Amino acid sequence: MSIKPRKVAVVGTGLVGSSCAFSLVNQGVCEEVLMIDINEERALGEAMDLTHAVEYLPQRTKIYKSSYDQCGDVSAVIIAAGAPPKYGQTRLDTLEISARICTSIVEPIMKSGFNGCFIIVSNPVDIITYHVWKLSGLPRNQVMGTGTAIDSARFKTFISEYLDIDPRSIQGYAMGEHGDSQMVPWSHVYVGGKPFLKIMEQNPDTYGKINLDEIVSRVTKSGWDIVHRKGTTYYGIASAAVAVIKAIFHDEYKIMPASVILDGEYNEYNVATGVPAIISADGVKDIVEIEMTEDELYRFKKSNQVIREYIARLGY
Ligand code: LAC
Repeated sequence: MSIKPRKVAVVGTGLVGSSCAFSLVNQGVCEEVLMIDINEERALGEAMDLTHAVEYLPQRTKIYKSSYDQCGDVSAVIIAAGAPPKYGQTRLDTLEISARICTSIVEPIMKSGFNGCFIIVSNPVDIITYHVWKLSGLPRNQVMGTGTAIDSARFKTFISEYLDIDPRSIQGYAMGEHGDSQMVPWSHVYVGGKPFLKIMEQNPDTYGKINLDEIVSRVTKSGWDIVHRKGTTYYGIASAAVAVIKAIFHDEYKIMPASVILDGEYNEYNVATGVPAIISADGVKDIVEIEMTEDELYRFKKSNQVIREYIARLGY
């Protein structure tokens, strides 16, 4: 008898990658985690440290330093390698170096015979997701980025603070670029099934004054608010990446925002962008097309145009 262990490779074992690994191990998502980094000592150190946590966790996970040629039977690869933006840079400014790093990762992984899902965390995530899709030659359902998953978590957190409601009871999505041009279709934000816009309208003295544009601008800035304080972000984004992997491994058909390649959905082509997607054992099982207002659609399309311009810089 043989039961195949589920393996996840984490490429890039800095703070983001190792937080992904910690989250995988803590939540018992898989049986093995392969830690891969050009700095092999770092990968080994993280693998050792994580291994020592197992004694105090509900289940055993094997965590070890590995290499691209070992990815043939891996189910999911998290790409967390890249160049974090320096002070004053946007995520888009890191494109060239991140794209080069990803080329050096994806080519050898594909040579190993890998046929699982890529989950891209590296910024600028939408453009890198598109790049990995092209480089890998995999069908689009097997390549996805964390996209606006973290931005969605952030705007829900802000609303939850206004309303004093669990953010998980708020439904809605930030969409478009995981970056400055992202947007929120407010007409699709619900609190326990009630439209948030309606709640604002019915409570003019309290919630009526909430400035929606300001919330979106706080969301786009909130990554930087963290970067200025502690250098980089990692717990939030790692949790988002691992939520995608859980949805794949448990065949959840979970609807969550992710950066996926559009091929006619929303009448968009040749772009990876943040949209609600159904994630199952097939990866991106389907894309949810929500009906936006004219203004929301305009903002969404404008954001996709920004992503497309940067994709073109990679020669696509
Ligand atoms: C953030 C990084 C992942 O916004 O871009 O946290």
